[in-house]
Amino acid sequence: MHNSELRAARLRSLFDSQANRWEEVLIEYDYQMPKIVLNTLTLLSISPSSHLDLGCANGHLGFVMDRSGFRCDRQGVDISSEMVRVAGETGSYSLTVEANLEDGIPEELNSSFDLITALGMFEFLEDPRAALSGARDLILPHGHALLTFKCSKPELGQSGSMSSPNLNNGKPIQTWHHSKTEVNEILHATRWNLRSIDKFDAYCRETPVEYWFVVATPTK
Ligand SMILES: C[S@@+](CC[C@H](N)C(=O)[O-])C[C@H]1O[C@@H](n2cnc3c(N)ncnc32)[C@H](O)[C@@H]1O
Repeated sequence: MHNSELRAARLRSLFDSQANRWEEVLIEYDYQMPKIVLNTLTLLSISPSSHLDLGCANGHLGFVMDRSGFRCDRQGVDISSEMVRVAGETGSYSLTVEANLEDGIPEELNSSFDLITALGMFEFLEDPRAALSGARDLILPHGHALLTFKCSKPELGQSGSMSSPNLNNGKPIQTWHHSKTEVNEILHATRWNLRSIDKFDAYCRETPVEYWFVVATPTK
């Protein structure tokens, strides 16, 4: 098996094992991202009619958006078959697809979307470009992408190095983190305009983890 296949297998098994307790994990760590998405949609007066959720996990975001008045046609992609199964059961997703986004956007998604989200997901990809470029092909001209990237910190070393959040029963998993400049470059290379980028703490309990929250629109 190649390194990338091994990594994908490890991610699949990690998130498969968490699918039935993901809701508890989000509460345990005081997960902030869905709240930030809701605030941003309200602030920018975005009311999506078609939403693609990349790394949808158990469908928590779709469920929360529906409950908060952002009901729309929604599709989700995740590498974990168990997460995809649980997300499908929320009733908030018309289609859920199991796929490795490192390989780009799966062909099953043949619609266009006016909202694309990717929260807490790009840190698991060595290179987010294929996914972002594929997402760019599916966004409507007036659409928005709400994305997060884990912030690089001097103690984490270079982007691409190993960190060990000890999610996987103590086994380290590889995550990638980016500086503001790198996020800018990645978006530029994948034909997205960066509208805003703000730092926030995504998991607030115990040790807060810093992320970039990005609003992007398609280049003309
Ligand atoms: C930390 S969770 C965040 C889930 C969700 N977006 C949220 O904010 O609650 C990361 C999700 O990304 C998925 N994921 C990780 N690597 C992936 C990949 N290469 N392709 C597709 N999904 C991936 C995991 O299976 C997991 O469900």
